[in-house]
Amino acid sequence: MLDYKRITLSLSPVLLALLWQFRDEPLAVCTCISALAGLATWCLVPATTSAFKRVGLSGTDLSKPSQPVLAESMGVVAATVYLIATFLFIPAQFRNWWATQDLQSAEHSSHVFPFDRLGEYLSALLSLQSMVFLGFADDVFDLRWRFKLLLPTIASIPILIVYYVGYGVTHVMVPVFMRPWLGTHIVDLGTLYYVYIGLMAVFCTNAINILAGINGVEVGQSIIIALSIIAKDIANVNSGNAEADYHHLFTLYLLLPFVAVSCALYYWNMYPARVFVGDTYCYFAGMTFAVCGILGHFSKTLLLLFLPQVFNFVYSAPQIFGLVPCPRHRLPKMAVESPLPRRLVARLQQEANSDHASASPSDSDSGSEIVVGAPAHPGSDAQREESPSHTSGAHRTLSTAMLSFAKGKSPKSTKVASTVAGSRSRSRSSSTRGSVSGGSMNSTAYMVPSRASLEGAKPLGLTIIRLYELIGIADVERDEEGSMVSVNNLTLLNLVLVKCDRLNESQLNNRILLIQVLNSVLAFVIRYRLSHLFYF
Ligand code: UD1
Ligand code: MG
Repeated sequence: MLDYKRITLSLSPVLLALLWQFRDEPLAVCTCISALAGLATWCLVPATTSAFKRVGLSGTDLSKPSQPVLAESMGVVAATVYLIATFLFIPAQFRNWWATQDLQSAEHSSHVFPFDRLGEYLSALLSLQSMVFLGFADDVFDLRWRFKLLLPTIASIPILIVYYVGYGVTHVMVPVFMRPWLGTHIVDLGTLYYVYIGLMAVFCTNAINILAGINGVEVGQSIIIALSIIAKDIANVNSGNAEADYHHLFTLYLLLPFVAVSCALYYWNMYPARVFVGDTYCYFAGMTFAVCGILGHFSKTLLLLFLPQVFNFVYSAPQIFGLVPCPRHRLPKMAVESPLPRRLVARLQQEANSDHASASPSDSDSGSEIVVGAPAHPGSDAQREESPSHTSGAHRTLSTAMLSFAKGKSPKSTKVASTVAGSRSRSRSSSTRGSVSGGSMNSTAYMVPSRASLEGAKPLGLTIIRLYELIGIADVERDEEGSMVSVNNLTLLNLVLVKCDRLNESQLNNRILLIQVLNSVLAFVIRYRLSHLFYF
């Protein structure tokens, strides 16, 4: 692990010196403040972890055999540091105005303070702050979906007002192939335009939260989207058009500190996670993008950068809208494959069952499965025998026992209680290699898609699942009569696992991040190379 305290102590004075040196350059000041914010988050997250756990803000890492309990909602630390950094940046942003004021006496000054720009920046921060508040409330109270949809709409009102007063542009260019039908190349959407950008805020905030559930994926995808937007703005910031340049700078001022605090948080949340980021981070990240897209005037490009999230949302729709049963957690499950003899496994199972005779049934939310013997395909019978609903505390003990046995420890010494405290170092050593080795025994941990029963699914839901199966994006289990029994949970994470066998959690996260990077490349090709085919 990096010595983050020493690195922070040595880098902070350098950054402060740079900040002073370039104090007249708002972008340089923003970069220095962002780096300082990143370092602060890097130190504050581990420093506050135990306090979060003490007040009950914790969650079980469902994809680990030892089921460690980690501090939840740590996104609130990153978001708070972000807000402090952006507040501190306000005077620096308008320093040039003060500098010119000093040169002129107040009565001769024709230089009016740019209240419109301050208003824009403050409204962005107000919307962001509201979403951090909502996210934290969701982490604490587990809000219902209707609130998750309604509250981002309300939180976006400040930016909608600023947009209305500042620009009020509500017309859109019609793509070339639609112009003959509509008879015009510009359509004024009027109020509908505000509905569209309000919906954009709702979508962005929830889209990241539902592409979640494995270590690092929420923050990782957000960092890639943010870096893509930053690259776009840096490439265009000196266009010579003052208004356009201002919008690029506005976006950079919001995204540089965001990337800094997110990278620091990612360090603690990446596989094997030491903390969870919570809904607070997902909503905060989503709203940051929505604010930038709306006030920076690139909402269509933003949607292109969000294509994996759009796909995940559309793919998930049958479960989200109740056409197919939707379990509380749809994240993939962990399978532990071991070459241990079945007889030994049976004995371990018996021990584990007696240890957990009093375990609560709610433990069935657990994520581990055990596969004994030769590697099995995720959809094979060997795996189905261990259906998600059978997973329990006993399985947890058993899987931990098997991992420990493979490492040469006595299975008796691996009770669940002892795995929670010591899980981190164990998980780290095993997971980075994707397997646990000890002597001649090798237990391999990898992820399999979690499944949802189709009992009680609506006819429309079943039709959509059949369609998904037809185009090869669903793994459907059927009974002897051919009726559909279950399907993989409809998320991009599970779909990647349906398509790619035997990925561990870290590899799955890397696949998702790779998809996000490739999507950014595609988005820029569409935006800068192909858009003239649609709009000219
Ligand atoms: C959303 C998803 C849900 C998914 C969950 C995971 C929808 C409709 N909801 O719900 O399917 O299971 O996110 O975040 O798609 N966790 C891990 N490992 C991780 C991250 C989270 O095990 O790397 C577990 C932890 O127990 C953590 C919990 O997920 O406490 C957080 O879930 P929460 O954010 O409350 O779920 P939702 O956002 O409601
Ligand atoms: Mg969540």
